[in-house]
Amino acid sequence: MAKDFSTLEDSNRSGNPSIHSVSDPARRVVLRLGAAAAAAGWVGQMAGCASVGPIQRRKIGFKAVAVSTADAITVPEGYTAQVLAPWGEPIGITGNMPAFRFDAGNSAAEQAVQMGMHHDGIHFYALDGGQRGLLALNQEYTDEGLLHTDGQATWTAEKVKKSQAAHGITVIEVELQADKWQMVRPSRYARRITANTPCAVSGPAAGHPMMRTRADPAGRTVLGTVANCASGKTPWGTYLSGEENWAGYFSGADTQTAHQARWGLRKTSSYRWPEHDERFDAARNPNEPNRFGWIVEVDPMDPNSVPVKRTAIGRAAHEGAWVAVTRDQRAVVYSGEDARFEYIYKFVSRDAIRPAGNGLTAAQANATLLDQGTLYVARFDGDGRGRWLPLVQGQGPLTAANGFADQGDVVIKARQASDALGATPMDRPEWLAIDQATRWVYCTLTNNSNRGAAGFTAVDAANPRANNTMGNIIRWREDGDYSGQSFEWNHLVLAGDPANERTEAQGTVRGDIFAGPDTIAFDGRGLLWIGTDMDVGKPETARMGNNQLLACDPLSGEVRRFLTGPVASELTGATWTPDGRTLFVNIQHPGSGVRRDGSSNPRQFSNWPDFRADGRPRSATVAIRRTDGGVIGA
Ligand code: FEO
Ligand code: CA
Ligand code: CA
Repeated sequence: MAKDFSTLEDSNRSGNPSIHSVSDPARRVVLRLGAAAAAAGWVGQMAGCASVGPIQRRKIGFKAVAVSTADAITVPEGYTAQVLAPWGEPIGITGNMPAFRFDAGNSAAEQAVQMGMHHDGIHFYALDGGQRGLLALNQEYTDEGLLHTDGQATWTAEKVKKSQAAHGITVIEVELQADKWQMVRPSRYARRITANTPCAVSGPAAGHPMMRTRADPAGRTVLGTVANCASGKTPWGTYLSGEENWAGYFSGADTQTAHQARWGLRKTSSYRWPEHDERFDAARNPNEPNRFGWIVEVDPMDPNSVPVKRTAIGRAAHEGAWVAVTRDQRAVVYSGEDARFEYIYKFVSRDAIRPAGNGLTAAQANATLLDQGTLYVARFDGDGRGRWLPLVQGQGPLTAANGFADQGDVVIKARQASDALGATPMDRPEWLAIDQATRWVYCTLTNNSNRGAAGFTAVDAANPRANNTMGNIIRWREDGDYSGQSFEWNHLVLAGDPANERTEAQGTVRGDIFAGPDTIAFDGRGLLWIGTDMDVGKPETARMGNNQLLACDPLSGEVRRFLTGPVASELTGATWTPDGRTLFVNIQHPGSGVRRDGSSNPRQFSNWPDFRADGRPRSATVAIRRTDGGVIGA
């Protein structure tokens, strides 16, 4: 995420720091161990994991690529990278496939049937055995300077509509022909869900007084979804999308209101939507912000299905949501919120996942599965143990006297409820990934430069570095199964160069150095893939080049660089075909961010992927294959 949402991220200033004393034994261990010793300890722990599968299945087989600062994608020898679906390509609506205009001259109506901007989480849904399928992906945010021919100096209602149309979620159909992936156009599946697509609200916040607005007095239908960051694919075939930096879309917040202040709402929007769409003016519509920050479930196979905001999972600056399955077939949805000093959550469904049958697809059979269950927030203790604290109205401090009169209050005010329970404020939780072979659940904590600063929460065992510019990957394993109330935890890795002269930025990486872990996902062989969102303008990351995708063998701890992205881009989503022979990755915001010279026009820094003099850098979905047709990473 290169757009500057940093001021949204420090709303947890009361914090729960004190229960994690800086004298925690686990923290002393982490800080005392050098890189090699820490890694060796970790390998030793993994060797003690009885349920680890065959070691060979995780072997990294490719030759690492070098650090790069080129405006290009680099992949290992024997691999190809093909740009498949950049921003602005028509998605394939029958009779409505306007070509992308390189001068950004497409209208709002045209943008609504084209690929949105700033691709993020993505999943592949196989059709016909996997040589054909759907890609569902998030379009996280817009760069208004690139989106409009004349940039953003002037502002109109049409520009607001175009910006809103470039947000949301996209479904496209793709197929492999002669070793090349292509978009199938037209396709009956092609769909855009934008900031104006009606979404249903389900779960305990549906119809709640805090969800009601003048335009929707019932509080059950929200127009659109925004800030869609990472994504998960459910075992029943749907797509889960996280609404992350939604607070930045609103203006007019009453920052004296404890509720709006706790959610990082501000008087001034990061966007200029409120000037022409009063829905995003929180002074006029104080409840509209409550209708964002949810996990949105979409059935990509049914283009007529209504997206649903699943409020039982809780409200947050949700990075995304990832599903594990308990022994008795209940769904466990893990999620974190990417903001400094915010929390990690899990939701355990009340009911078991139902199979398809009786004329229903699996998605239809589980259409209400995520509406009933128990929401928890994580507390990481200093002894390598942790607890899931139930976010249940009436339990502990979550009473009417404390502002939680019903479960709707709890999920709408999930941050305040988590504060009250003493959950652990984390260093910006981004993606999660579940290792089904070992049941360890991994979460990237991308950075937190305010950790330990004056007036902010101190370091603790789980977030052990002050001024954490490098990030960590933490992991835990539940007692019992994924529905467990307690867990053991440790760090997979502290990111950063072990040789960094600045102690607080020293990492424990074994192999190719990286920082800013963000995307993580397991492939079918059990390799953990790590996409970075490093701040490439900082001295600490100067030797690390452009953002990259690396593979990690979680048995040996080895990390190897697989791909480097274009200048000032970020590696976002990653998904594989079922045969493991194609990896789709998303490249987001090439050229973006304020550079060291203070300038900020992406066109000065990247022209990827078109390299046209009259063009502009475009986020894109890229298909990675091996020239010998083999399995990616093997
Ligand atoms: Fe949208 Fe937290 O990355
Ligand atoms: Ca990030
Ligand atoms: Ca991210």
